[in-house]
Amino acid sequence: MHETSLTVNGIPLKATVPARRLLSDCLRHDLGLTGTHVGCEHGVCGACTVLIDGVPMRSCLLLAVSMDGSAITTVEGLSGPDGALSPVQQGFAECHGLQCGFCTPGFLTTITAGLEDNPAPTPDEAWELIGGNLCRCTGYQNIVAAVLRAAEITREGAGDSPGNSRCTPGPASSTMSGEAAL
Ligand code: FES
Ligand code: FES
Repeated sequence: MHETSLTVNGIPLKATVPARRLLSDCLRHDLGLTGTHVGCEHGVCGACTVLIDGVPMRSCLLLAVSMDGSAITTVEGLSGPDGALSPVQQGFAECHGLQCGFCTPGFLTTITAGLEDNPAPTPDEAWELIGGNLCRCTGYQNIVAAVLRAAEITREGAGDSPGNSRCTPGPASSTMSGEAAL
């Protein structure tokens, strides 16, 4: 067994785990943070995505011991200290960006990091941003709309005038939109 020290959602934590313990399992089973979901468990679906030092990564492909000393943000850490929804969570709520919700934690973390890099994505850039995450329910249209709305909410919070996306995803030239049309 190995002790690993992690800062998860701003809280320093220690876990004693086998060398082969996946980070996703460590978060869920050792630390009780079950908001991180596990779908494919081999790096395809994106449901397990968490932020490692701000970078979205598949927690099912990482060993917990290799993360010693890292700062990890899970979906539980996205809302404010008072429980207020983050702009991305608010965008999902307003634009109906989820149905069963299984994929949602991975989308929320991925989009949170993506909007840090590109605070004003075009519709095509929003499609590109979510291209590594799979959802079996929504058809992606409302998720793209939520990305654009989240960007608006962030800008509105910074003092910009209210946006007008009205939860419409806009034109998309991505593969996913092509698949949706089949
Ligand atoms: Fe990790 Fe699917 S569970 S990518
Ligand atoms: Fe059900 Fe995405 S909302 S898998």
